Amino acid sequence: MTDMEVRARVEDWHDDLASALAGLYPGQAQAVGAAVVARASAAARARTAALVALDRERERDVDWYLRPGRVGYAAYADRLGGDLQGVARRIGYLRELGVDVLHLMSVLRGRAGNSDGGYAIDDYRRPDPALGTLSDLEELIGSLRDAGISTCLDLVMNHTSSDHEWAVRARQGSAYHRGLYLTFPDRTGPDDYEATLPEVFPTMSPGNFTWVEQMQAWVWTTFREFQWDLNWANPDVLVEMTDVLLHLANLGVEIVRLDAVAFTWKRLGTNSQNQPEAHLIAQALRAALGIAAPASILLAEAIVGPDDLVPYLGEHERQRRECQLAYHNQLMVQGWSMLASRDARLATAALGRLPQPPAGTTWLTYVRCHDDIGWAVSDLDAASVGWDGRAHRRFLAQFYRGDFPMSFGRGTAFSANPQTGDERTCGMASALCGVAAGLEAGDPAQVGQGTARLLLLYALAFGFGGVPMIYMGDELGLGDDETNQVDPERAGDSRWRHRPAMDETQMSERHDPHTVAGTVWAGFRRLVEARKACRSLHGTGTVEVLDSGHPSVFAWARHHSRYGPMLGLANVSETTAYVSPDVLAVLDLRPIVDLLGLETSDLLRLGPFAVRWLSADGLYRTAPAV
Ligand code: GLC
Repeated sequence: MTDMEVRARVEDWHDDLASALAGLYPGQAQAVGAAVVARASAAARARTAALVALDRERERDVDWYLRPGRVGYAAYADRLGGDLQGVARRIGYLRELGVDVLHLMSVLRGRAGNSDGGYAIDDYRRPDPALGTLSDLEELIGSLRDAGISTCLDLVMNHTSSDHEWAVRARQGSAYHRGLYLTFPDRTGPDDYEATLPEVFPTMSPGNFTWVEQMQAWVWTTFREFQWDLNWANPDVLVEMTDVLLHLANLGVEIVRLDAVAFTWKRLGTNSQNQPEAHLIAQALRAALGIAAPASILLAEAIVGPDDLVPYLGEHERQRRECQLAYHNQLMVQGWSMLASRDARLATAALGRLPQPPAGTTWLTYVRCHDDIGWAVSDLDAASVGWDGRAHRRFLAQFYRGDFPMSFGRGTAFSANPQTGDERTCGMASALCGVAAGLEAGDPAQVGQGTARLLLLYALAFGFGGVPMIYMGDELGLGDDETNQVDPERAGDSRWRHRPAMDETQMSERHDPHTVAGTVWAGFRRLVEARKACRSLHGTGTVEVLDSGHPSVFAWARHHSRYGPMLGLANVSETTAYVSPDVLAVLDLRPIVDLLGLETSDLLRLGPFAVRWLSADGLYRTAPAV
């Protein structure tokens, strides 16, 4: 990396960094900016030759994460491979599936005992010794890169573990380290904040503050009592976390997932989520990364309401360079909502009014992840189709825990809060889709419907636009893990139900079409191939949600100025549906193919749970690339 290159990048990012810091730390912005630039420049110079080469390549190929062929996979390192070397041994499997982004969880050293699934970190610089050494991690990331797979790791930035060195030193009386956290001598502050704060884990960890005897103080703990929230209003936190970020980037992490970014900034009288400063923090981190490691990008983990989502991609009164990727949790929720209600109208309204991701950004689209599903259906969207938001949210929670008449869901409640009526849902996709219910009933037809639902949701995630992320095990229809509930540390946290270890038997059945694993695997392979063939899915295109003319059919179009349109149709019910001929108008009367392989003789007809991706582009793929 030449000094000239670093200087050019500092120049490029100067204004972004300065304006973010001026908003965060008025009066100290210059000094903080100098500290960030110094660290970022040093990190740039410390990059390995391989990473410098990648930086240079990506400075030219800025669209690398927007390509339609991108397919992600999220897994706990230990559950996927036992340890880091075991994960390396899964590379062939991931390649066979067609994955080129791997989000590995719980890699860094977490708190001993309960670590909230690895989200209470003791040491950001080293992997969990049970998984391997730092050089094992570097080696794994290098092997993944050689196989064409980009590594994604978490930056758990809202809190550290209460056993992190900073917290230990704060307890021992270090003023510097105490200042990294939010502490209060008595209940006055906490009570004032609590008046408007929700509880994230009301059953496991009620309230947002924890009394720490040794410090004679209440410490802000949004999540669990052993996860101490960092005081981002203190610029030292920004500088320290910038260092951690750059350390991850220099290990070769190409996608940094900003865990719980929405919670980073607190403001009295609000719910202390999605504050403008949380965005400025992300913008400042983006600038640091831009200077030090242009090969790496940011993914916002902001599982928030529909109106709060797009700002994490930099959509503000003026567009900003913020995160390049953000979880599309509204698409995820609406997918599940459609399957339960057999009705696409709410999804059409809710997704139809979301703004496009700004240029250079895209969604991370998903069906399940390691966390619970929060039923983020807004009252406004529900009312727009004549539904009651609260009643619909309650219906979804009941439906997916299997307590609604004719429910196919076999999920488990999470954090049910009788005071607010809020209840979230846990369970692997196959448990929620009806595969588990079918197996339980010994009914192959129900199992078949369950797998069709699972593949329908993934066809939405793969075809809506964005980087689809497969949650480990879904590609084989893996079911819930019942064994975790016997572990006392996990028993109270039903998210462990959907964090099973990889099942070697199901894995070995993946090529057998007579098994659930084989059916689902074949469906995933079809989706991966169709995605690669469909250039309209390039992230530089846009998405339009359409009225299909049938209440059970969700319709959307991808538009791309170069590659033309793609029309997606999904029948969310078990009855055959006919869409309106009008919906085909987006295809402009061109000859088309169904990239998912359905018959095109009767384009308007969709059988139970059928999904179509109609495109004209596929026909011309043998022509020279434009
Ligand atoms: C994120 C993680 C979740 C964790 C929380 C606190 O939402 O995905 O698993 O509990 O942050 O770190």
